[in-house]
Amino acid sequence: MKGKFFGLGVGPGDPELLTLKAYRILNEVDVICMPKSRLERECVAYNIVRPLLRGEKEIVELYMPMTRDAEILEQEWQKGAATILAFLRRGLDVAFITIGDAMLYSTYSYLMAKIKALDEEIEITTVPGITSFAATAAALNIPLAEGEERLAIVPSIENPQKLPEVLAQFPNVVLMKVAPNFNEILDVLEAEKVQDKAVLVSHCSTPRQQCEYDLERLRGSKPDYLSLILVKQQGRWL
Ligand SMILES: C[S@@+](CC[C@H](N)C(=O)[O-])C[C@H]1O[C@@H](n2cnc3c(N)ncnc32)[C@H](O)[C@@H]1O
Repeated sequence: MKGKFFGLGVGPGDPELLTLKAYRILNEVDVICMPKSRLERECVAYNIVRPLLRGEKEIVELYMPMTRDAEILEQEWQKGAATILAFLRRGLDVAFITIGDAMLYSTYSYLMAKIKALDEEIEITTVPGITSFAATAAALNIPLAEGEERLAIVPSIENPQKLPEVLAQFPNVVLMKVAPNFNEILDVLEAEKVQDKAVLVSHCSTPRQQCEYDLERLRGSKPDYLSLILVKQQGRWL
């Protein structure tokens, strides 16, 4: 019999924010796979779950480069899916771990689709995780949205010049993946007069968590990859 494949969102960083379901599955599977880019010394998702693992597991790092080159990504997803499939076809259960939620900007969704396409008999279970922005709102005691307010989730790796349009339509905006274009984002927030309505949070829910309400102080620097900006244009929050 073929093994089962699980995608586990392991939350934003605090191991206590893992769901009970993800915890159980992590300790039941035979193999734990995780994404690893060459830049990272250690996989963030693995560091989250490491203190929760009981007993021996096969741990497999799948190379997932931080690139936007579609051809390279396609190649690596294909290789990753083939590696996972080889374990599944040996009857071993495999979990792929990913930070935050498994279905939000995660390599998991691509791998899952590849595995499905390669072998439709494989049983796939996705376990949701607490997103980085849910953890940020909780850490700051600030609601993401109230009443009939709208909320936009924006991957700011795309052109920051598109931001004014989003800000005009949504009072609450979460900017994710802010590191590469951070200074351009600051320019836009300043031009739109919302810089004082924004907070940057890095490494939310971990001992390294940092919050900066005065974004101007960070100008010229590049925040860590695990950083997001929450913009709240209305109300008393920022
Ligand atoms: C590839 S996305 C992964 C999103 C993740 N699946 C989620 O549900 O939050 C990576 C981006 O998520 C955000 N992020 C993830 N973990 C974070 C944390 N602990 N603190 C702040 N931002 C975080 C950052 O914006 C980072 O660039």
